[in-house]
Amino acid sequence: MTTTTMPSSEKVLRTAYQESVAAYWNAEKDPVNIRLGEVDGFFHHHYGVGDYDPSVLEGPEETRDQRIIEEMHRLETAQANLLLDHLGPVGPEDRVMDTGSGRGGTSFMANQRFGCHVDGVTISEQQVAFANAQAGERGVSDRVRFHFRNMLDTGFETGSLRASWNNESTMYVDLYELFREHARLLEHGGRYVTITGCYNDVTGGRSKAVSRIDEHYTCNIHPRSAYFKAMAANDLVPVAVVDLTEQTIPYWELRAKSPVATGIEEPFLTAYREQSFHYLLIAADRV
Ligand SMILES: C[S@@+](CC[C@H](N)C(=O)[O-])C[C@H]1O[C@@H](n2cnc3c(N)ncnc32)[C@H](O)[C@@H]1O
Repeated sequence: MTTTTMPSSEKVLRTAYQESVAAYWNAEKDPVNIRLGEVDGFFHHHYGVGDYDPSVLEGPEETRDQRIIEEMHRLETAQANLLLDHLGPVGPEDRVMDTGSGRGGTSFMANQRFGCHVDGVTISEQQVAFANAQAGERGVSDRVRFHFRNMLDTGFETGSLRASWNNESTMYVDLYELFREHARLLEHGGRYVTITGCYNDVTGGRSKAVSRIDEHYTCNIHPRSAYFKAMAANDLVPVAVVDLTEQTIPYWELRAKSPVATGIEEPFLTAYREQSFHYLLIAADRV
């Protein structure tokens, strides 16, 4: 992708908070991410959707853990496919951006599905190195590239993207600044999609369970209303809003029984069940 000057390290991480988020992801080697990614080489740092097959909990004890891990990975891959289903028509010559790209799972799936160019951005240099190595192993380095960049100031060319997304990465940034950058990058009629957890304006402010999730991940979960206000302020007009809350609960129930549970499962289940937290997909057009 054509870019303006490459941002220096200091420019990428502008605040002490961003440095702490980058440090978290640089150090992250959580089995819930690594062991699932090893199932088929697509590494995700997001949650799953859909019912799990209860038979994975039965059968031989020796292979139970692996069955659960493969099933959780299937649900996480289904989540990424759902996001890609909402990107609209994307052709092989189009450019798309994976914003807060993690180890690159959704980027590789997009390239596989559309044949398009993908630029992933993350503030973790470890993730950039990991994902670019994967692109090399897959033989797609000419089409899928990962960059140490701040999503609020990517340096990419104005109007150069057919589509862009945030897969569980909006809770680290100010939404007005984020959507201003997406609106700058997207062509007219380009599509933006996010899947995110957000707290419920109807039940009030940040619940105790939502605060525990924030603390666990060093993030700042936004209220649902903030997404629509910040999109409207930046020429992004929603075309689909899907409440995935019910569809993600089975994933968390399975994860709570899994060998890779991290301890954050109960706050997620409480927050979803008490409706103080929603798992939402929002797709919007750049006008
Ligand atoms: C929960 S992970 C999601 C990763 C990926 N989207 C996925 O679905 O597997 C959050 C990601 O956001 C990235 N991130 C957080 N703040 C960022 C920022 N200001 N600029 C770029 N990336 C950021 C982190 O480095 C991490 O890769």
